[in-house]
Amino acid sequence: MERTYIMVKPDGVERRLTGEILRRFENRGLRLVGLKLLVPARETAEAHYAVHREKPFYNDLVEFVTSGPVVAMVWEGKDAIKIARQMIGATKPLDAAPGTIRGDYTADVMSNLIHGSDAPETAEAEIALWFRPGELLT
Ligand code: RTP
Ligand code: MG
Repeated sequence: MERTYIMVKPDGVERRLTGEILRRFENRGLRLVGLKLLVPARETAEAHYAVHREKPFYNDLVEFVTSGPVVAMVWEGKDAIKIARQMIGATKPLDAAPGTIRGDYTADVMSNLIHGSDAPETAEAEIALWFRPGELLT
């Protein structure tokens, strides 16, 4: 069993896509073990995207992800990290296949609706960053 950190970004909440996104993860058979709605603190967003600190889009990215409420989630299942990344679709709009969340609902490289952890190490760090242990099912 594996756990992954999934987040509906502010554009996804604003566009009323939270239900659609939850439905897709439930339909796929993953198990929801954590869920909350919050406006991210700047420090949390900066830590979450620390790997991109030197990128030209970093400041815009932190601004974007703190601009409104997000839905923070942890989903569990066999190969949950890779399965979620498949469902989310590629970062570059041209590479985001139809049938994926990004491929079906956005063509913007920044406002791309959803985040998903990209590896076991980042999943563990992101879950610890966004959730206290008591907020997750065992
Ligand atoms: P995420 O971390 O949010 O799940 O997305 P990702 O792995 O597909 O993409 P990543 O390379 O980690 O980039 C993180 C987020 O930064 C924004 N971005 N903007 N303007 C740009 O060229 C650009 N590139 C990336 C996107 O919101 C991306 O999801
Ligand atoms: Mg990423």
